[in-house]
Amino acid sequence: MPSPDRMPDTEPSGWLDRRFPVTGFLRREYVAFPMPRNLNTLWSFGAFLIVTMTFMIASGLFLAINYTPDITQAFASVETIDRQIPSGWFIRSLHMGGVTMLFACLYIHLGRGLWYGSYKAPRELLWLTGLGLMLMIMVTAFAGYVLPWGQMSYWGATVVLNAVHAIPLIGHPLSELLLGGETLGNIALHRLFVLHFTMAFAILGVIALHVAALHVVKSNNPTGIDPTSPAQTLPFHPYYTSRDGFALCLFLMVYAGLVFFLPGLLTLADNYIQANPLITPRDIRPEWYFAPFYAILRAAPSRLGGLILATGSLAVLFALPWLDRSSIRPATRRPLVRLSLPLAFASFILLGVAGMHPPTEAWLIVSRVAMAWWFIHFLLVMPLASEREIPS
Ligand code: HEM
Repeated sequence: MPSPDRMPDTEPSGWLDRRFPVTGFLRREYVAFPMPRNLNTLWSFGAFLIVTMTFMIASGLFLAINYTPDITQAFASVETIDRQIPSGWFIRSLHMGGVTMLFACLYIHLGRGLWYGSYKAPRELLWLTGLGLMLMIMVTAFAGYVLPWGQMSYWGATVVLNAVHAIPLIGHPLSELLLGGETLGNIALHRLFVLHFTMAFAILGVIALHVAALHVVKSNNPTGIDPTSPAQTLPFHPYYTSRDGFALCLFLMVYAGLVFFLPGLLTLADNYIQANPLITPRDIRPEWYFAPFYAILRAAPSRLGGLILATGSLAVLFALPWLDRSSIRPATRRPLVRLSLPLAFASFILLGVAGMHPPTEAWLIVSRVAMAWWFIHFLLVMPLASEREIPS
């Protein structure tokens, strides 16, 4: 195909590309983009994340049209969306089910990166933009959960804001900035509403950065050895467009199953009771995707200790490209990591289960052991394995 500047003006793409090089860009970055030949289904989760984010933003815009960010009307406005507005239940279910799909994909996407060593050079910035996205999505999900102004919205936010209070020096100013006063009330609800939808659009911007970084360093693959010749690659279209497209159909079937048949599966019944600051629910539980961090928060004997450990559990992921200095990428070729990383995955799941149960002695022990393994894996095993391990 001739280059755009040689195409005659009568060619629609030649005319457009000379003024705004969009077709050339799409052809280079999406149609002919060289991909390793051996990617497995775990490489489709990035596409699932983009599609789910699109559903979240579209459904969120419709919800925002009918939602009222006022503590006397918020709960009723959400009930009206669910019960009276045509297809309102569907839009809300799409949004609520979307959060579950988004976090499930996010954790699998991250786990894939850990297993195949996709955080290693030259992909450190790609990894860091991904983690930045995860933090932004967590903040957005937290703010969004307060909006229906149910019992769990109120008391869950109270637990988090108490934890924020425990931060030395900046804790009080930060929580006052969020709350607009001393307590969780109207000003806070309004601020969290603005934070929720502003962050959603900021996330779109960071996704663009994440994908741009990916297109510079290109995809890793299960062997961890980058292709060295065009014969070892395939163009993105039609090979990966059809493959991701097929996987996407299966993914959307699961998402639709959740939206249409099990909309209440993962939500807490207490959130269908309007917030009441005078009645504390018997058991304050987070949604499943925050449960591992909640378990860590509770596992420490002090509030500040819990906050440091919960923050630390994420900080080790940011430091990972520098904690693990081995040049071998996939865990499949690293005998120590092959053992230790699945245990770290199991610890994360155990922490999640513990976070969804009342803090009895037994669950506290489970949380502490699982948390200890999480830190041991990243802070001891990974640096040690970088030095001592003999690749298989
Ligand atoms: C909304 C959030 C996110 C979106 C939309 C997103 C999107 C994508 C897409 C489309 C790809 C290429 C396809 C694929 O490899 O699956 C990708 C690759 C990648 N992402 Fe993400 N991502 C997100 C979050 C994250 C997070 C939380 C991390 C982990 C810290 C991460 C780390 C990576 C890495 C390392 C790659 C390259 C993987 C490889 O080639 O082996 N991403 N991302």
